[in-house]
Amino acid sequence: MIAQPIKPQIPAINRLHFGAAYYPEHWPSDRLEEDILLMKQAHVSVVRMAEFAWSQLEPRAGIFTLDWLDRAIHKLADAGIVSVLGTPTAAPPAWLVEQYPEMMAVDEYGRRVQFGNRCHYCVTSPEFHQAVQRIIGALGERFGSSPSVIGWQLDNEFNRVCYCERCKQVFHEYLREIYHSLDVLNEAWSTAYWSQTYTDWSQIPLPIGSHNPGLKLAHHRFVTRSYRSFQRLQIETLRPYLHSEAWITHNFMTWFGAFDHYEMSADLDLASLDYYVGKGHFDYHIGGASIDAVRGYKQRNFWLMETQPGHVNWQTINTALNKNEGRALAWSAISRGADAVMYWQWRPALNGQEQLHGSLIDQSGQPRPFFSEASRLGREMERLSPLLANSHVKAQVAILYDFDSRWSIESQPHHKDFNYIHLLENYYQVLASKNLEVDIISADVPIFDYRLVIAPALTILDEDRVAKFKEFVRRGGHLLLTARTGVKDRNNAFLPYRPPGPLASLTGVEVEEFYALEEPVPVTGNWFNGNSELWAERLRILADRVAVIARFGRSNGWLDGQAAITVQVLGIGHVYYVGVQLDEIAQYEFFSHVLKSANLRGRETPDGVEWRTRVRMNGQEVHIIINHSQSTKSMVLPWPAYEHLSNQIIPPEVQLGSYAVAIITQEKE
Ligand code: GAL
Repeated sequence: MIAQPIKPQIPAINRLHFGAAYYPEHWPSDRLEEDILLMKQAHVSVVRMAEFAWSQLEPRAGIFTLDWLDRAIHKLADAGIVSVLGTPTAAPPAWLVEQYPEMMAVDEYGRRVQFGNRCHYCVTSPEFHQAVQRIIGALGERFGSSPSVIGWQLDNEFNRVCYCERCKQVFHEYLREIYHSLDVLNEAWSTAYWSQTYTDWSQIPLPIGSHNPGLKLAHHRFVTRSYRSFQRLQIETLRPYLHSEAWITHNFMTWFGAFDHYEMSADLDLASLDYYVGKGHFDYHIGGASIDAVRGYKQRNFWLMETQPGHVNWQTINTALNKNEGRALAWSAISRGADAVMYWQWRPALNGQEQLHGSLIDQSGQPRPFFSEASRLGREMERLSPLLANSHVKAQVAILYDFDSRWSIESQPHHKDFNYIHLLENYYQVLASKNLEVDIISADVPIFDYRLVIAPALTILDEDRVAKFKEFVRRGGHLLLTARTGVKDRNNAFLPYRPPGPLASLTGVEVEEFYALEEPVPVTGNWFNGNSELWAERLRILADRVAVIARFGRSNGWLDGQAAITVQVLGIGHVYYVGVQLDEIAQYEFFSHVLKSANLRGRETPDGVEWRTRVRMNGQEVHIIINHSQSTKSMVLPWPAYEHLSNQIIPPEVQLGSYAVAIITQEKE
């Protein structure tokens, strides 16, 4: 059992970085100089290398060929470009797989994964672990002390869940450690139901498809544990070689659900994100949430380790971002705490699965049209680095993101469209449109510094969570709980109460029944009207002081005229219970009012223009205003401002052209 996280370091990140993923191993070595010249043109300050280069670094077991990477690191450093190195473990080479066929993962259907893509390893394989330690040891020994290697990325986008016999055994060991005895496990999972009682640990399957909710949740936690152990093995192997400033990260995918990202991040120095729009365009009302979420993994700034230069290659239609949209997206990420923006990738290999993906340089070695937009961003980030480095986002609103609750609901959605992340986004969108900063954080960290906390569908409750919410409200916090709160315990078993169970005294309501909806149900509120589209809960009021904010209109008879949304005011604390998922317009009306009562007003901007703020160490606010639309927008600033991209004082009436970005600080009047 991993009791304590490895003590991570707090990385000293004293500048903003701009760069790309660079694969010198794909090109003849005499190309390096020319690439570096182009990188200088683009103001590249960092490249990430080697994260898939295992076969080039260790062509045979124990034989290392690291000179090419050494040369690249040095030549780049001579040009003032630092490196982040990936441990190449997401792409175990053919010779290793041939040597240990059983290190290959097995899919849900019992088939061994084929060689030829990536992430084909089984995360619990001891043979693989040994090989990983060998390659990481060699890389660490050679490059760990190099000051031009500023950080390390472990593996790449951990993602595969393995169903091999060994993983099953390791799962059994994990369950033994957690439950100690089969009696406890049988009880916790109610295995008397359908004769599931286990008399030996070895009888417990790896769940595939529909299964006992207790087993399913335990398996999710086991996957987290497996990756965390693997990640820890890498950290422990690498760390002893590293100079004191070097940091360790992993590049997570947006909203990826196979493991708990908060737990994984606990052992890392820095969280980083790969953010791709894919098809269509960047909408900060939605996309912003997945970027903000990464800041929450360590409750600190993060790196945007990969983003798309124009277009990707893995969508159904790989549309390109509009001209200047990519730059606007990058500034939006910086406004949310990204301290680096890196494009994937610099240049495509001549062959291989990702030939058609966007890049800064094309196969001929020439800059693509997007190169000039990226270069502009590079120049701007370089120039504004002194202003923005070491500044942070300060939010008064938090949304709790809980993997256990998400998994619980995903395994029993009850309505095919009930989606935990969409519900979270339903609240986020309103906050984004009002330009309110929001932290998306684990449900298990302190919340007392926030004015408003939203806990979407926090189905899984335990005593600590309940105690924390009570204390938060006692101190005057505004707490918003939604449908599907307080239904289950940590074993995914029903709490033996009506929801929200132990939170009923806080909410002053209990849920008598829940209804998955085929037809929208009308909801009439005190200041809005709309529909609940896929979920409705019939609430029973438990205390006189509970005010009903909205009631259901006519629908299935059971809901007609019943309370749908309530608030209980306790001292100066407010507790909302929202037993519906409102349509977009009604949600905006309803939630805007909640924000107003919590005295959270945000900032007004024209449609499609976002305004976000980073706060410097000395308390100075740096405002980043971005027009995410193709039309010109006018707005009036509340004070005279200095605009840092154009280096001038600007009048309060501002015209923002298509995808324009303004970075301003308040001028003394
Ligand atoms: C990421 C991955 C990169 C590259 C990219 C293409 O998920 O980490 O290596 O494949 O997608 O969009």
